[in-house]
Amino acid sequence: MKDYLPPSDLLAGRVILVTGASSGLGRAASLAFARHGATVALLARGEARLEAVYDEIVAAGHPEPAMFPYDLATADDRGLETLAGAIAHHLKRLDGVLHSAHRFYSLTPLELQTLDEWQALMRVNLIAPFALTRACLPLLRQSPDASVVFTGESHGHQPGAYWGGYAVAKAGLETLTRIWSDETASEENLRINTLIPGQVATTLRSRTHPGLSPESVPSVDDLMPWYLYLMGADSRSVRGQIVECQT
Ligand SMILES: NC(=O)c1ccc[n+]([C@@H]2O[C@H](COP(=O)([O-])OP(=O)(O)OC[C@H]3O[C@@H](n4cnc5c(N)ncnc54)[C@H](OP(=O)(O)O)[C@@H]3O)[C@@H](O)[C@H]2O)c1
Repeated sequence: MKDYLPPSDLLAGRVILVTGASSGLGRAASLAFARHGATVALLARGEARLEAVYDEIVAAGHPEPAMFPYDLATADDRGLETLAGAIAHHLKRLDGVLHSAHRFYSLTPLELQTLDEWQALMRVNLIAPFALTRACLPLLRQSPDASVVFTGESHGHQPGAYWGGYAVAKAGLETLTRIWSDETASEENLRINTLIPGQVATTLRSRTHPGLSPESVPSVDDLMPWYLYLMGADSRSVRGQIVECQT
């Protein structure tokens, strides 16, 4: 997949919602989707950083994105339905969702992790991706080719010490992917997959692996072929899969 060469108009005419769009992989994916013709709905909490991505997309002459400042930690069904309604009102359609926002504290033994921390980890990393997808389903079902991509984590796939509630929530995304894909198996225009980025140079990695140089791992841009492949029509037959980026 790393050699996937997407056509420049791969996502032309599509509207794609990206959570965590202001930083790291979400920001890189938003720019890549826009570069390939998509109108991107940019979601994160901080408006200033969202505006920076918005400005970058507009300055490059790509389709004008839309900004949705929103806190997924406090989301409820009504708020998410209102958000989906705003996307429908302003952008008229929705063809994809990339869930890239995340909550991480630090690598610690389970016995030091608190209930409050676990609640925040579950809400942002597992519950919000579920509830936001659910709120967007009516819109996604109207698309001829809708793709939902959850962002997994290698330590959710293969658990290890100290990754705690973060890894448990990320493992839940894989189960969510399989259940939902089973339940929507007859819907040819809707697919749901989990993408595991693996090692990549982001601020998260500098927190989990502080001693390692960023140059020793792929950059966020190196992973964009996977993101574009899963969001575009070339991956139509890929459903209910846990896809690992391997560069
Ligand atoms: N980096 C890695 O090595 C790695 C490896 C495997 C998997 N992943 C996964 O890849 C994804 C992206 O990681 P990253 O390192 O690129 O992320 P990042 O740079 O830390 O960016 C996180 C994004 O999420 C947003 N966000 C955080 N809390 C939010 C909330 N409550 N509501 C809405 N938005 C929120 C942030 O913006 P605001 O703060 O403004 O809200 C920001 O845009 C994550 O799902 C992560 O688990 C990363």
